[in-house]
Amino acid sequence: GRPADLAGRRLVISAGGTREAIDPVRFIGNRSSGLQGYALARTAVARGAEVTLVAANVGLPDPAGAKVVRVESALELRAAVLDAVEGADAVVMAAAVADFRPSARSESKIKKTADEPAAIHLVKNPDILAELGERRREGLKPYPRVIAGFAAETDDVLANGRAKLARKGCDLLVVNQVGDGLAFGTPDNAAVVLVAGGEPVDIPRGPKEALADTVWDLVAARLV
Ligand code: C5P
Repeated sequence: GRPADLAGRRLVISAGGTREAIDPVRFIGNRSSGLQGYALARTAVARGAEVTLVAANVGLPDPAGAKVVRVESALELRAAVLDAVEGADAVVMAAAVADFRPSARSESKIKKTADEPAAIHLVKNPDILAELGERRREGLKPYPRVIAGFAAETDDVLANGRAKLARKGCDLLVVNQVGDGLAFGTPDNAAVVLVAGGEPVDIPRGPKEALADTVWDLVAARLV
């Protein structure tokens, strides 16, 4: 059994991947399965936490003991996370949030035409993780005490991760090396956790639960 070291803690986790609607039947999406976010939710519940899981398009059963809020788009995910972090101790943003969305959602299904297909105009989505860091810096509630994010990097993993940690103003950044049968849709993960003002923590290849438990160890250490 795990220690109940997160008893009484209110934690918010985002999981899955957002879908940005093009028309009533089409969207721009990504390959995030939600497995890592759900592993974070299960392990946090097992350690005694009160968990809100904001799930974007995840085809997994609700983890027992967690409150699940289902969302589709980045804007919905932002609203749900901001709502859930009110009075929360920590947030872990494990969701893959689309950086862009179509500027308008067509009311009707876009038709196939003989000539050039219509271009899809994109606008930027808010960076929710960065916004939480900024809110905390400015003392603008709601924001949680501890803020953690994930980053998938393919090259210069440490340097890019360090820069991202600083840019987003978070405490912990779990940096995944993507590729080699790791990360998306797989039961295993390997990562390095970058810690603001501390040494990086290496997490060897292993089940997503093991990575989740290490993340909670680091979060718990920042909540004492
Ligand atoms: O910048 P990048 O997408 O690599 O950062 C990934 C981290 O930022 C993840 O924790 C993700 O949940 C979060 N993110 C966000 N809002 C966005 C894009 C990413 O909160 N629009």
